[in-house]
Amino acid sequence: MKYKIAILAGDGIGPEIVDQGIKVLNAIGKRFNHTFEFKKALVGACAIDATGDPFPEETFQLCMDSDAVLFGAIGDPKYDNDPKAKVRPEQGLLAMRKKLGLYANIRPVTTFKSLLHKSPLRKDLVEGADFIVVRELTGGIYFGEKGRSEDLTKAFDTCTYTKEEVTRITKLGFEYAAKRNKRLTVVDKANVLATSRLWRETVQEMEPDYADIEVDYMFVDNAAMQIIQWPKKFDVMVTENMFGDILSDEASVITGSLGLLPSASVGVHTSVFEPIHGSYPQATGKDIANPIATVLSVAMLLEVALDLTDEAQAIRDVVDKSMEEGIVTEDISEGKAYKTSEVGDWLAKNI
Ligand code: IPM
Ligand code: MG
Repeated sequence: MKYKIAILAGDGIGPEIVDQGIKVLNAIGKRFNHTFEFKKALVGACAIDATGDPFPEETFQLCMDSDAVLFGAIGDPKYDNDPKAKVRPEQGLLAMRKKLGLYANIRPVTTFKSLLHKSPLRKDLVEGADFIVVRELTGGIYFGEKGRSEDLTKAFDTCTYTKEEVTRITKLGFEYAAKRNKRLTVVDKANVLATSRLWRETVQEMEPDYADIEVDYMFVDNAAMQIIQWPKKFDVMVTENMFGDILSDEASVITGSLGLLPSASVGVHTSVFEPIHGSYPQATGKDIANPIATVLSVAMLLEVALDLTDEAQAIRDVVDKSMEEGIVTEDISEGKAYKTSEVGDWLAKNI
């Protein structure tokens, strides 16, 4: 089969890590007899520099015309300490989510045996932890009405959700739970927020349709504690945009392998796959960034967007093998550290 893949490398280490993803896809194509056609487009700070727009129309059209999008990272330190900047790279990401209708962000949290000692948690607490965070991605406070008073002394951000938005993301949460260990944790702040009460009410109405799924409800502050105290108790966690942003970052570091975790954003149009880490500007151009999160995002791309399960598994297998054999970058290496491009070459060759 022939597939069209949009490559949005973005900023910082984005281009270096995405290149390894392309190598791996080409190797999969060779072994399984597929053709992947790659087309590149700009997003983030590099798009602002070139066009003034962090998510140009051309990039959007390419995404719409593709079977899947492989995304690197966005962000540039020159914007971080400038609250007055008129356009910011992050707006490109938010525009992409909105225009592609990417209402769900899926982040699997898994541990790697060889990296457990890098976890900030005790090994016995974290070993075997395996859950996914399903984060609502196009609603809530990120996209609600916001503004500033005329005298600039007051500002506001509004959190809004409709029942329809809650239903479609929760449905996805239930479906993931059905394929996994049949437990769904709904994270909210229903003791304070009206949106959370709508959320809880909606999920309660849906419960009878998924009788074999065990549902529990947890306040977000409590969830933040429990992720640290008992990470193994979770299976699928579903939550609104901002809570999901915070909790998924928290969840990702307990494994000790931030550079290894992938994510998928899915919804109405083309799905987007990206590593969970950022643009790591300090490492840009040095060929040292860990490409594994991107390579595992490619595995998610094959499985989720293209329904190529064996191909996805082949990637996961070769990643495991590279870690067993110590073909890894300096962030996780215990001996010789390999370059980003060397890890990519090794993976492609071994596929
Ligand atoms: C993420 C990021 C983004 C978010 C930022 C860069 C706008 O933190 O993808 O989780 O807050 O959604
Ligand atoms: Mg985040």
